[in-house]
This record gives sequence, structure tokens and C-alpha cells, in this order.
Amino acid sequence: MTHMTPMTARYGRVSWEMNKDRILVVEDEEALGEILCSLLEERGDSAVHSRNGREALNVLKLSPEGFHLVLSDIVMPEMNGIQFLEQARRLYPDLPVIMLSALHDIRIAMEAIRLGAYDYVVKPFEKDQLYLAVDRALERQRLVAENRRYQLHLEELVRVRTEEVERALRELERSYDFTLEALGSALDLKDSETEGHSRRVTAYTLEIACAMQLGSQELKNIARGAYLHDIGKMGVPDSILRKTGPLSPNETEFMRTHCQRGYDILARVNALQEAAEIVLSHQESFDGTGYPRGLKGEQIPLGARIFAVADTLDAMTSDRPYRKAVSFAQAREEIVKYRGTQFDPRVVDVYLAMPDATWVELRGRIAQGFSLSAIGWEMSASRA
Ligand SMILES: [Fe+2]
Repeated sequence: MTHMTPMTARYGRVSWEMNKDRILVVEDEEALGEILCSLLEERGDSAVHSRNGREALNVLKLSPEGFHLVLSDIVMPEMNGIQFLEQARRLYPDLPVIMLSALHDIRIAMEAIRLGAYDYVVKPFEKDQLYLAVDRALERQRLVAENRRYQLHLEELVRVRTEEVERALRELERSYDFTLEALGSALDLKDSETEGHSRRVTAYTLEIACAMQLGSQELKNIARGAYLHDIGKMGVPDSILRKTGPLSPNETEFMRTHCQRGYDILARVNALQEAAEIVLSHQESFDGTGYPRGLKGEQIPLGARIFAVADTLDAMTSDRPYRKAVSFAQAREEIVKYRGTQFDPRVVDVYLAMPDATWVELRGRIAQGFSLSAIGWEMSASRA
């Protein structure tokens, strides 16, 4: 327990006077401790007296507002000044400690300086000597505290600014997605046969991509690429796009330009480079038999390899004017057949590990409503 001098009694009620420096005096000699406290009070400081290191550590620990300085004797019972100093330096590195040492233990005082004591005052001391040491230590403490406040303020400023930039980027990303959604809807109007296909294929692609543990930025790029995979069809005449019979070789060739056309639309925007690559490669085949470049294996962007599985899955399980939808289980069998030829075997294996209920549930959810920006956030957030 801290000795209840009038000063410690005041401390006990936590009634520090504002604007006064708070000094802890650690001194086992009762009389000397009280003299020191009186001298400090006379100087205009608030002082608390502890009788040994252990008591002093308790006082420091329990002090809600902290101290500005400690004056500590060296030779004391229970916990001496050196042991106290070591612990205080570790727990309160910004708190200066002045050691009070008798002439005969000056070596120990030097050891204390080595251990981080700010200064030492030799007993018996003159009042002016004490005041000078206290002034210097308090000044140093003020500088350290000011520096610390400045650092904290800077950190806070950096934090606030970073948040602002991140928020602005998120807004920008969202507005991209709104624009991309508008683009996608324009294609839906032109190519009504595949209504809803872009949305479902985006959701399926993302679901597999998430299961492959891809990062959130990659997921966003993949979502955009999947959603806009056929955007190049905007440049294909309706006479070809809406033709009911089989396409002539020339028409087929023209139809195949939609990958490059889509790429050209997106690649102009810096943030859509990755998505543009997926659009360009979405008709490639794992074995190199696809178009437009005949890419093979990992030459095809991963997003496009995942898309290929998702695309077939949705195409087979959706009604088309010339055929009926098949079940997800039947689609699964078909996809397995092309594992390693049309599809990346690694992607197929991830897909096969996912239950068909996943797709049924996703299909239902997409029918309720779809937002490209929301779907990207939702998915990456739920798996973060
Ligand atoms: Fe396509």
C-alpha cells in the first residue's frame, strides 16, 4: 500500500490539479520522502510518495492520468531502485526517472544511467540542484510527449486520408460497375435469346473462382469479364445474330470477331484490362482448339478457363428456342466428358466438388435481382 501522506491521500481521490506536473517520489526514508514532496510542491508540482519500488509500480499502474517524472532512491527494501528502474523503463518508456544516490553508491548510479535513468542527484542535495534536474527532466518529458502527440496526429491524419481515398476508389469501382451493367443490358436488348445468361454465368463463374480462393480484386476482374463476355456482339449485325438457321462460313467467321470486338471496347479503360483479357479469351479451349488465338492450357487467363465451365453449365441448363434445358446433373456429366479437352481439369475438379444445389440456389437468387457491383462485394466479403 502507498503510504498515506497528505499528498498520497490526494492522489487516492484522484484529484490532480490541472496543469501541474505530477511527480512520483520513491524513497524509503519517510522524512526524506516528505521533504522531497514538499520541495516539489513548493516548486508548483504535485507529488506522491511511495516507500519502495514495488509500491511505486503499483501507484504507476493505478494512476489514471499517469506521471510526468519519477525521483527514485536506489537502496530500498522489497524492490530496490535499480529493479524498479528496469521495470518502469519497460512499462513506461517515455517516463523519465531521476535516481537519488548517496555518494558511496555512485557506481550504482552510473549503472542506473546505463539502464536508462535520465539523470541522478547525489544525496545530500541542494534545493537548486534538485530543481535544476527536475526542470531538465520535465522539459525532456514534454518534448517526448509532444512528439508522441504529433506522431499520433500524423497517424490519425494518414488513417483518415487513406479511408477517404479508399472510399473514393470504392465509389469509382461502383460507378464502373453501373456503367458495365448498362452496357450488359444494352446487349440483352439486342440479343434477347440469351436473356439472363450474362448474369447467371457471372454468378457461376464467381462461385467457382471463390472456391479456388482467388483474391477479391481478381474476383472483381473475373466478374466483369464474365458479365461482358459477349459485349462484342454489339458489333455483329442483327441479320447474323438473330438468324434462326445455321450460319454460313462467312457469317460464322464474322460472328467469331465478337471476342476481339469486346476486347477493343473494354481495353481502352485501364481498370478493365484484366476483364478485357477474359473477354478476348472466353471462346478458347483448354486443348488449343478454340478461337480467336487458339491458346492452350495456362496461356488462357484463369478467369476465362473458369468462365468456360460456368458458360457451358448455364447454356445447358437454360431453355433455348431449338432445345430444352437439361438438369444440372446431366450438365455435370457433360462437363466431365470434356475435362482436359475443352476445360481446364483443375477448374472441373473444383466444380465437381460443389453440389448441384449451389447452382439451383444461385439461379433462383439471380432471378430475384442482380447487381454487378453488389455481387462482387457480397461474394468477396462473405469469403474474406
Ligand atoms: Fe461468346
